[in-house]
Amino acid sequence: MTNTEGGGDGYTAMDYDTDCETDEVYQQCLSYLLSHAPVTADDVVLDVGTGTGIVALELASTCHRVLGRDVYDEWLQYAREKAQRRGIENVSFGHGSFRDPEADEPVDVVIASYALYMAYDDGGEDELRAAIEGLASLTPRCIVVADKMRFGPEQSPSDYETLPPMGTLADLLMDAGFTITDIGIITESVGVIVATR
Ligand SMILES: C[S@@+](CC[C@H](N)C(=O)[O-])C[C@H]1O[C@@H](n2cnc3c(N)ncnc32)[C@H](O)[C@@H]1O
Repeated sequence: MTNTEGGGDGYTAMDYDTDCETDEVYQQCLSYLLSHAPVTADDVVLDVGTGTGIVALELASTCHRVLGRDVYDEWLQYAREKAQRRGIENVSFGHGSFRDPEADEPVDVVIASYALYMAYDDGGEDELRAAIEGLASLTPRCIVVADKMRFGPEQSPSDYETLPPMGTLADLLMDAGFTITDIGIITESVGVIVATR
């Protein structure tokens, strides 16, 4: 995927969906997420940084309700239109951030897919901690982070994004009161962490 994800430069929600469909690593990460997220039929799931709603719409058939939240209104509108076209009624898309997800009901499971790395890229460990604390404040049973993260050595200064080390993500989730119950390594820069309270 390109470095124009999240809007700008004419990169559209439709472009993003097409890129995701053809990105093998994204698809592997999504499959791991869908098969390892401990979501049950009664759960309310928050998909934060939902973007075009790919994960939210996949999860809808497995749980009671999905709240898709993002800060980017254009992509939220696109996600709503996809839900309508597919006849999926147990998903709502609205404004919400990592720090303040604006969930209007109790949440059982939080999912963050290809999203939280942006907090680290923007503001380093302090911003990532604030983001995780914002999500933990909803007191979910579980937080699943399926994301860009670094398993390997230091990044080169020429890399266009700064990815959080997996250990930093895990430490911050544990500081927020969770135990790491599953880690999936997709590549050296993409992985899945399941954190359970
Ligand atoms: C690469 S997209 C991922 C979309 C989707 N989760 C997926 O797996 O395809 C990252 C999304 O995170 C959103 N985002 C960035 N910063 C955010 C924040 N502080 N709070 C909530 N969403 C944010 C962007 O607007 C964008 O839609």
